[in-house]
Amino acid sequence: MNHPVTPPSLSLERPPSSPQFINLYSDSTPGQAPSTAQELSQGLVAAAASVSPKYLYNALGSKLFEAITGLSEYYPTRTEAGIFEACHTQIAETLARNGIKNPCLIDLGAGNCAKAMALIPHLLPRQYVPVDISVDFLKEAAAQVQNSFPALDIIGLGMDFSAGLALPDEVQAHDRVFFYPGSSLGNFQPDQALKFLQHIADPAQGKARGLLLGIDLVKDAATLEAAYDDALGVTAAFNKNLLLNINDLLQADFDVRQWRHVALFNAAQSRIEMHLEATHDLAVHWPGHRRRFRAGERIHTESSYKYTPEHMMALLKQAGFRQVEHWSDAEHRFAVFWASV
Ligand code: AVI
Repeated sequence: MNHPVTPPSLSLERPPSSPQFINLYSDSTPGQAPSTAQELSQGLVAAAASVSPKYLYNALGSKLFEAITGLSEYYPTRTEAGIFEACHTQIAETLARNGIKNPCLIDLGAGNCAKAMALIPHLLPRQYVPVDISVDFLKEAAAQVQNSFPALDIIGLGMDFSAGLALPDEVQAHDRVFFYPGSSLGNFQPDQALKFLQHIADPAQGKARGLLLGIDLVKDAATLEAAYDDALGVTAAFNKNLLLNINDLLQADFDVRQWRHVALFNAAQSRIEMHLEATHDLAVHWPGHRRRFRAGERIHTESSYKYTPEHMMALLKQAGFRQVEHWSDAEHRFAVFWASV
């Protein structure tokens, strides 16, 4: 490949600067922010108990997720990376055709920023805005991006963007390209996914020029279930760590040894479901509450919806995007979509 590691517009002559960091996530420190406690309690006391998957991502959860992305069974990350590697020129040309040059790249759920790092040399953003709920993890990752691209303007945002996309004034208002890789949109219920896409497509809201979106595609149940229940048990640890996070946030007394990781493909809903299942009758306590779980009773911790390319294109159009195109791998496991506003 004949592409420079550093964008030509980003000089390496300046010494590395540090990224700016703005934390808008008020629930990021354990300590009983009422919204967190209420949300968690409500989900845990419900007859069919559930917890939002966003609580999977404390500092340890983010590290475990990073480990998942390297597992042989978890094909989405490497498949998506392969698509970007094979198609970055076409993607850059598509942006150029839409009149977008040196965009502001807003990386939703940036995590370790690895996906954006691979794209930055090709999209040549003027500003890079990694956004994540896992604040400390993001700070470290943003610093690493800055080391690789010393002259790039980086603003890290600690933010729960599932609650809204109001970005601070420091984020460049023009030529915003939202980058939402990794099939994270699949963790929304379809109606929430539509709302979220509508929000980005609404020029008055996200001020976006377009969206670059990675989506996992529908496939056989065996491949999907192996990806969410790996032989090493990393995904099981990732799921159970949610209980440790709840213990911190709610001062609860979950014992992770009393819970079993369950991952199943619900074909009717086109989603992988992760649950935690009580191995025997037990009770969990947190201030003001006691919840009994019978053996075999589950807490639903995550849904990961799988789409067909046609379904996703229709959803993007329904959300208000003007033009949609997509790229896939040879086995049609995963797809990357460009949707212009
Ligand atoms: C972040 N998200 C897209 C992952 C997924 O595949 O739904 C989270 C994950 N859960 C278990 N493994 C990975």
